[in-house]
Amino acid sequence: MKALVLAGGSGSRLRPITHTSAKQLVPVANKPVLFYGLESVAEAGVREVGIVVGDSAAEIEAAVGDGSRFGLEVTYLPQEAPLGLAHAVHIARDYLGDDDFVMYLGDNFIVGGISSLVRRFRTNRPDAQIMLARVSDPRAFGVVELDPRGRVIALEEKPQHPKSDLALVGVYLFTARVHDAVCRIKPSWRGELEITDAIQELIDAGCRVDSSVVSGYWKDTGNVDDMLEVNRLVLDGVAADCAGEVSSSELVGRVVVEEGATVTRSRIVGPAVIAAGSHIRDSYVGPFTSIDSDCAVTDSEIEYSIVLRGASLAGVRRVERSLIGREVEVTSTPGALRAHRLVLGDHSKVQVTS
Ligand code: G1P
Repeated sequence: MKALVLAGGSGSRLRPITHTSAKQLVPVANKPVLFYGLESVAEAGVREVGIVVGDSAAEIEAAVGDGSRFGLEVTYLPQEAPLGLAHAVHIARDYLGDDDFVMYLGDNFIVGGISSLVRRFRTNRPDAQIMLARVSDPRAFGVVELDPRGRVIALEEKPQHPKSDLALVGVYLFTARVHDAVCRIKPSWRGELEITDAIQELIDAGCRVDSSVVSGYWKDTGNVDDMLEVNRLVLDGVAADCAGEVSSSELVGRVVVEEGATVTRSRIVGPAVIAAGSHIRDSYVGPFTSIDSDCAVTDSEIEYSIVLRGASLAGVRRVERSLIGREVEVTSTPGALRAHRLVLGDHSKVQVTS
């Protein structure tokens, strides 16, 4: 079995962060979301991985390399334009050969990995296997209709009037039969070759498509609230580990301070991670906060937030439910001036207290 990991796409819902970074590389608990996917592919016993890349190819390649760090052999498959998930399968045809494969959307996050799903596929040998999750707004997904016995009868991509709340999760298992189906479909209203339509083709051709419902699923960590929630969940699983320098400070609960990080005259309430090269001084860092490498938090309070590499906070309290981009500086207004001074990039979102 091979894996096909999709890492193209523009990440418009995560602007401005994705103006300068591929959405699959946005970190959760200081690790790019794509890495969790690659780790779960490796954990499921798959070694050969084709990564489909688009405009952000160079950045993805720089981060993932040859895949050996994950125990994988990675081949990059350039897609000239984001023409759909089935188009990605199409361009990977030679790479995949006649092997079974798991297709994993690089911006999806599945708690607990995919090992049991891959095992099930290998045991039951359907023509395809899909995963479903109950979602509050199915219109943003591929939606599946099941018969009373739980068999897939119809699928529809981003329907105006969804027939169920069961959405297609971005992990699919296929046999080589999918390739004929991909050749038969036509572009959808959004101009893409939809994998949803290819699966419908399989069903129409009398193929067996198994499904299972999963919990703990996030579509493409596509907005800040989702990202904070996934970050919370991942941090919930970390164990306390203090390899950095901590002085005159209090670490409460599961706090990770990486080697090369310093915490001075501060209080950190876990779960929280402070990455190498970051300095926390005279501050409070509250639960569910990830501070990436080379950040400075000075005389500030922050909680339930993600701070990306090289950002700094000085004299600000209190920051909550926030996503702070790379190299961002947040400072307080000097003197008695009670005004907000904002220098924000395109598509930034700010909430102020007054
Ligand atoms: C794609 C699929 C959709 C699926 C979703 C899961 O949507 O087309 O069927 O539910 O991934 O993330 P897109 O990312 O193109 O909006």
